[in-house]
Amino acid sequence: MDVWKAAAERARTHGDVLVLAAGQPSTPAPRAVLRATKEAMDSELLGYTETFGILPLREAIAEHHRSTYGVRVGADDVVVTTGSSGAFTLIFLAAFDAGDTVVVARPGYPAYRNTLTALGCEVIELDCGPETRFQPTVAMLEALPEPPAGLIVASPANPTGTMIAPAELAALARWCDDHGTLLISDEIYHGIVYDTGLSSAAEPTSSAWETSRESIVIGSVSKYFSMTGWRLGWMLVPEGMRPALQRLASNMTVCPPAISQCAAVHAFGAEAKAELDGHVARYAANRQVLLSGLPKLGITDLAPADGAFYVYADIAHLTNDSMAWCTEVLDHTGVALAPGIDFDTVNGVHTVRFSFAGAGADIEEALDRLGRYLT
Ligand SMILES: Cc1ncc(COP(=O)(O)O)c(C=O)c1O
Repeated sequence: MDVWKAAAERARTHGDVLVLAAGQPSTPAPRAVLRATKEAMDSELLGYTETFGILPLREAIAEHHRSTYGVRVGADDVVVTTGSSGAFTLIFLAAFDAGDTVVVARPGYPAYRNTLTALGCEVIELDCGPETRFQPTVAMLEALPEPPAGLIVASPANPTGTMIAPAELAALARWCDDHGTLLISDEIYHGIVYDTGLSSAAEPTSSAWETSRESIVIGSVSKYFSMTGWRLGWMLVPEGMRPALQRLASNMTVCPPAISQCAAVHAFGAEAKAELDGHVARYAANRQVLLSGLPKLGITDLAPADGAFYVYADIAHLTNDSMAWCTEVLDHTGVALAPGIDFDTVNGVHTVRFSFAGAGADIEEALDRLGRYLT
């Protein structure tokens, strides 16, 4: 966010900023969603809705999970939230008490750690490196002194884009069930995957509910669906947790934004999918440009980006202060990057995240500028 602020300032003074720091698509919501929004504004009251979200949306999300993963999901299993961020806060509050231990991967999405810490939980960060694709494993959980109250996994992950193999995700889910650990599976980057050893655009990514209906699956319209600012996410929740979530959500937010809910019903149809798959094809091309261009600049230590729209690079040969390096790069080139320190408070001093969600020409231009700066 500091880099974004500096980038906005530079855009004002120099007008030359290329943002590869943002974790969001550079495209608007699908056309079918935009049309539905205009119609809803003319025809709907748009007042408070049911706390867990309007039925047509919960049905559309349930159908999305049934058809993508072949799992049995009904509208009652779905809790619509204010972004997946809202889902995380709700489930943390409902499931954990102050003092509970919750395990996350390092590097990882910083909001898990920050929100859990604010709620008084003890966050255990597992040091996850390239040997496990930056993902936690059952062996790491076995090595803990005692089973934690919760485990959060993200596949594809932010900042690495790496995925957990289907068999390992199933093993993690079984381990959690066997040890009374709540598995929270962040699946918000599903739909954005590339043909690597672990993933394929043709094969659906595996979901935690394929193994355990005691786990929490988290989804969002922010990433694949290109709707970050609409603030809409969801979770699949076991029945026993719903009363607590109902009470928390109705007190904290009453309901997710009504206009976003009415519109998002149309994000799951064939027309939207065709448009959104087009974005994924552009991300795939951008990813290739970065994966072949960065090594030519001497940046060779890259995480295998199976999905999402990030390349996470170790730049220990360039800096031991990623925040200062990103600030310098922005000052000298106008290219905004995300410092690794955001995602990894230990090794992130020498890592950086490149987001390739933007236009192809911008990625090429950013590489040119970085090349001139580094040589
Ligand atoms: C892994 C991960 N989870 C959750 C979120 C939050 O997304 P949202 O609240 O927009 O659904 C993000 C945002 O970048 C993310 O990268």
